[in-house]
Amino acid sequence: MKKKKRKLKAKVKKILILIIVLIIILGILLKLGFDYYHKIHSYPYKLEKVGYNKEEISYIVKLKDNQIEELLEKGYDKWLLRFIKQKYFIYHNLERYESYFQEHRDLEHSKVVSLVNVNADKEFYTDLEKTDITKNNTMLVNKFHVLEKNYIPNDLVDVSIQHAYGKQKLRKEVYEHFISMFEAAKEEELTIIINSSYRTYNYQKSLWDRYAMQHGEKWANEYAAQAGSSEHQTGMAIDVTTYGADDFEKTQEFKWMGQNAYKYGFILRYPKDKTDITGYQYESWHYRYVGEELARKIYESGLTLDEYYAYYLEEKNQ
Ligand code: DAL
Ligand code: ZN
Repeated sequence: MKKKKRKLKAKVKKILILIIVLIIILGILLKLGFDYYHKIHSYPYKLEKVGYNKEEISYIVKLKDNQIEELLEKGYDKWLLRFIKQKYFIYHNLERYESYFQEHRDLEHSKVVSLVNVNADKEFYTDLEKTDITKNNTMLVNKFHVLEKNYIPNDLVDVSIQHAYGKQKLRKEVYEHFISMFEAAKEEELTIIINSSYRTYNYQKSLWDRYAMQHGEKWANEYAAQAGSSEHQTGMAIDVTTYGADDFEKTQEFKWMGQNAYKYGFILRYPKDKTDITGYQYESWHYRYVGEELARKIYESGLTLDEYYAYYLEEKNQ
């Protein structure tokens, strides 16, 4: 009787072990199947199947799902990667990068990306968009983003004659920051004087018309904004000088501004090496208030406001 019981016990044990082994095998198979299913449905796998290599895939997988799907549908295109690899690449500009590059093959890919991002592949003053004034300090006004004729900042204040030549107005916050900057420069025996600040739409129009009449439209467009396209209409731009300066770039004040203006929220708006991006000749005297946070980011990135805005702030590019 006891022997029979022992035998039965051993049998049950064996069956149990068998069941456990079977469960483990099933589990492993399920896991393998699951992993395989996931793998063949993953983007890296699909991209590899289409023909992209590991390095290329590492850039493509950073895109949004629908963008990757679109690339998969198109099939392998090694030329796309020269743009997708660029730091400031914006997906929906992909075709424009390619066609602009075909017409300007001497340009670096990063330059093509920058130019297209700010619309400089188009003719200036075409495809105009309304400036998004709700962005306040960070609003963009340029040859593609324009202010309405009746836009007047609602917090303009008079600039004291100790800070300016002639009668000037600025937005309150801008003037307060200018004063802080003025005082800081003064401590180093430097004087920053405002030559031009807020301008009405009509004043800007008369200025541009005069330039165009005296020097021709091409010249006028390089030196002045057409009405609606001037940052001076925002009440956040200043043209500065110092006592006795013919060329502001040659002054100590200019050097000081280059190192310090951003700490007070101001950026040099039309730099020397970015004339193709901004559409203006180099202006060592024109500074734009964008607030301290953005000014620091722009200063550190080396981007213009146009580039920074396109990549980080413009809604349609996000
Ligand atoms: N000079 C700058 C570009 C303006 O006219 O606003
Ligand atoms: Zn200016």
